[in-house]
Parts: sequence; structure tokens; C-alpha cells
Amino acid sequence: MTRIAVDLERPIGRLNRAVFGGFIEHLGRCIYGGLYAEETSPADEEIVRQDVLDLLQELRISILRWPGGNFASTYHWADGIGPMALRPRRRNIAWGGVESNHFGTDEFIAYCRRLAAEPYICLNMGNGSLAEAMAWVEYCNGAESTYWSDKRVENASASPHGVRWWGLGNEMYGEWQVGALSAEAYVSEATRWARALRMVDPDIRLVSCGMNGWNDWDRVVIEGLASLVDLHSVHLYTGSADYWTNVLQPHQAERAIAAAKALIERTAYVKRIASPPRIAYDEWNVWYRTDDGSLEERYDFSDALAIGTYLNIFVRNCDWVRMANWAQLVNAIAPIVTSSRVAVAQPIYYPFALHAQGALDLAVDAHVYGPNIDAKILEGAGRWPHRITDLAPFKVIDAAATVTEDHSRLAVTLVNRARESAELVEIVVRGAELSGEARVRTVTSENSTEVRRLPDVEGVSLEDSELEPRGSLLTLLLPPQSFALVEAERAKT
Ligand code: AHR
Ligand code: AHR
Repeated sequence: MTRIAVDLERPIGRLNRAVFGGFIEHLGRCIYGGLYAEETSPADEEIVRQDVLDLLQELRISILRWPGGNFASTYHWADGIGPMALRPRRRNIAWGGVESNHFGTDEFIAYCRRLAAEPYICLNMGNGSLAEAMAWVEYCNGAESTYWSDKRVENASASPHGVRWWGLGNEMYGEWQVGALSAEAYVSEATRWARALRMVDPDIRLVSCGMNGWNDWDRVVIEGLASLVDLHSVHLYTGSADYWTNVLQPHQAERAIAAAKALIERTAYVKRIASPPRIAYDEWNVWYRTDDGSLEERYDFSDALAIGTYLNIFVRNCDWVRMANWAQLVNAIAPIVTSSRVAVAQPIYYPFALHAQGALDLAVDAHVYGPNIDAKILEGAGRWPHRITDLAPFKVIDAAATVTEDHSRLAVTLVNRARESAELVEIVVRGAELSGEARVRTVTSENSTEVRRLPDVEGVSLEDSELEPRGSLLTLLLPPQSFALVEAERAKT
């Protein structure tokens, strides 16, 4: 049995909804054939797929990162504006194939508006220039009549796009990145860029390119850029064919957050920086099965458990993690996959949807007393070199909790990682009585024989139920390998 003590009076911090962000890249069928229908000719208006949009809307994506990823490092944004038929076709250096440039800045902004998501643009620090980046900011945000803002008025809208978030390059440390740099060279380049971009628009927010949070690259970048940026980004991909390794590897994010936080706090103290950057997890996901130009990963339910755990970690660390972008959203390592006829959700879609739909204003302390996982983790097995054994013991149940500003409502997200056994869970709300019925939404792996809409895409079982609280207690039985969202109300005093 597991007891979870939720303390409404111990807030961790305000949960920034930007942790429910997404990421789309010009990669395989993410944009063309994903967000957009495939059947388009150069002269056609591209067709936004409503089925994909409907599924994305359920995820409440709050902020959308684009155009990459690795793609960003060779993307020349001016190729992607103006009349479709005149846009140049270019090689997609990062992922292969040809880029039509049909989805460009104005299409991206229009898509963000449809999703009610904030745009977040990653700049090309690979083979792009500072002049190009400055022009991009002017195109998006310029309010007066100038060369580039007039172009925006001509192409898309009289009012500025108002793009607040800009990323200073993608994975600039990696040899797979066009134009990769040493940490020191990156700091000096990014310093020039940050200062100049803020001259174009002082209201923009900048994200520095970190690595994994604990690397020397992060240290050098944080020391060099902490006074110039709003967020320091880190990326994390996990995954393994071994169940326990797959399910538990997201805990590596806890190490990353702790390490990046320590580096930032040290720099802030030494350099007397009053408001140092926080962390943006601007790429994260399970990804280990594919490594071609399309990354059409098929997910199973153990991956869904990993996703639930990742998000619990972001909620528990919301004082430091201010943004996170799920990489990616459609077809390429994605919760949503399409054929020309249908769009279908993979198992990983559901914990994200429930998290994003259930999350309330403030994260509060949720202490888990319960059994630990007794299983072997295969260190360094599979694609990623992550080592997590030193972070053990891991609880069978992973939990996070949020409350409304006035503490009147509570949401708890629970991951039961036990492979075979159900776990009895008692949630104790400290110092408050609950009233009415609590609502429980539980996802487990599919148990129906219903015909799948795409034969290779696993389904899930999603069940809604109601629960009667007893005073300050809620007791529920979590099926093996399940994710649950529990929503309860506090009795009026
Ligand atoms: O999301 C796929 C790739 O992973 C991105 O393009 C890159 O930034 C990362 O290595
Ligand atoms: O491990 C680095 C990642 O592996 C790169 O971002 C991706 O492009 C490659 O497949």
C-alpha cells in the first residue's frame, strides 16, 4: 500500500503552463503529411488537417517550438514567406529530402493561433547570420513601417506576430549540428546575438542552448550567458527495450534539473545576477527505436508510464522548470500519427492529455510513503548512456499534485509502475477535508479487441470513475501499469 501526503500549505511554486509545450520540426511527416494534408501541389493552399488539430487541442499545447531541432541550423526563414509558388525548394540537410518552404513563419504563427499556443522560434546559429536573425525578429515583431515589418503586413497581418520567445541555436555542441561550436565560441557568439536581438526588440525572451544540465558545456554557457538570457535549455531523450530501464530513465531529469539549478545559482551568486535564468526542457521524450530521416516511432504503454513520470517531475520542479516542449507532436517521435485518412493517438498521448487538462495553478508537496521498486536497471543499455542506479530507490508510485490559487481544488497525477500488481493508494490531504465526489480518470494499456484504426498503433483503455472521500482521505486501487488523474474538492469551511 502507498500513502501520499498532500500538503496544501506547502506550495512548491506556480506551475507555468509552458511546461505543456510542444515542438514541431521539418522532419519526415511531422509538418507535411502531419499538420498539413499530403495532397498539395505547390500552387495550392496547404490544407491544415482538422483531425490532427482536434487531437492537439486536447493536449492544451501552451507554447510551440519551431522550426527545429537540427533543421533550424540550416533554415533560412526568408525562404518561407510570400507567395507559395515563389518559395525556393531547398535540401533538408538535417533529415534528408527536399523542403518546399510551404510551411514558413506566417503559417507557423497561424497554426499557433489555431492551437491557442504561444510561438517559440529557434534561431539558426548554424549557417545563419545575425543579420538574418535580426530581420526575423523585425519581421515578426516590428510595429512601425520598415522593410521587414512591411513584408509581414503584405504577407500576413498588419498587427505584429508578437513572438516573445527566441532560442539561441539548437544543440550547438553536437557534431551532428551544422555549425557546431565549442562552448566558449558559442558563448561569445550568443552574447553578440543576444545583445543585438534585444536592440531590435527589448521585450523578447531568450533561451540559451544548454546540453543535458550537468555537462561542462552547461557550466560554461551558464557562466557566460546567465545575465543575458531568460531560460537555459536542456534536452533529454530516454528509452530502452527493457521495461524497468524505460520506465525509470526519466528520473534522469531530476539529476539534470538539480545540476543545472546548482550551476545557475552559483553563477547568480558569484556574478550578482538578481534574476538568473530558469530551465527550459525544450526537447524531451522517449525515443530509442528509430534513427532514420522520419523517426516514426511506435510507442507502447511502458512509454506512456515514462511520459507520466516526466511530467510529474516537471510539476514537482516547477519553481525551476518554466517551459518544456514535448519532442515532437506529429508522426516524428510523436503522440499523434497519421495516415492519409486518419489521425490516431499513441499510448503516450494520454498521460500528457490528462496532465495538461488536470493541472491547476500551484504545485504542492506530495510526499509518497510506499514500496520501492525492486528491479534491475540495465545501465547504459540501449540507445542512451544514462545511468540512474544511483538515484534509486524509486517508488512504485510516482506522484505530483497541484491546487488552485485559493486551495479549493486539488489534482493529483499518479503513475503505477508495478508491472503485474495493482497498488492500493491512500491520498491524505493534510489539514483539509474533502467534499463531493472526486473524479478519477485512469489509463491502462488496451484491453479491448476493438479493431485498431491503424494496425500498428496500440490503443489504451481510458476509464472515468467517481470516488467518495472520507474526511481528508481518498482511497483508490491503481491497476498495474497505469496512469491516473484524481481531481477533488475541498470542503467549504
Ligand atoms: O527531435 C529530434 C532531434 O533530436 C532534434 O532535431 C534535435 O535537436 C535532437 O537531437
Ligand atoms: O544523439 C544525438 C541525436 O542522435 C541527434 O540529435 C539526432 O539527430 C541523432 O539521431
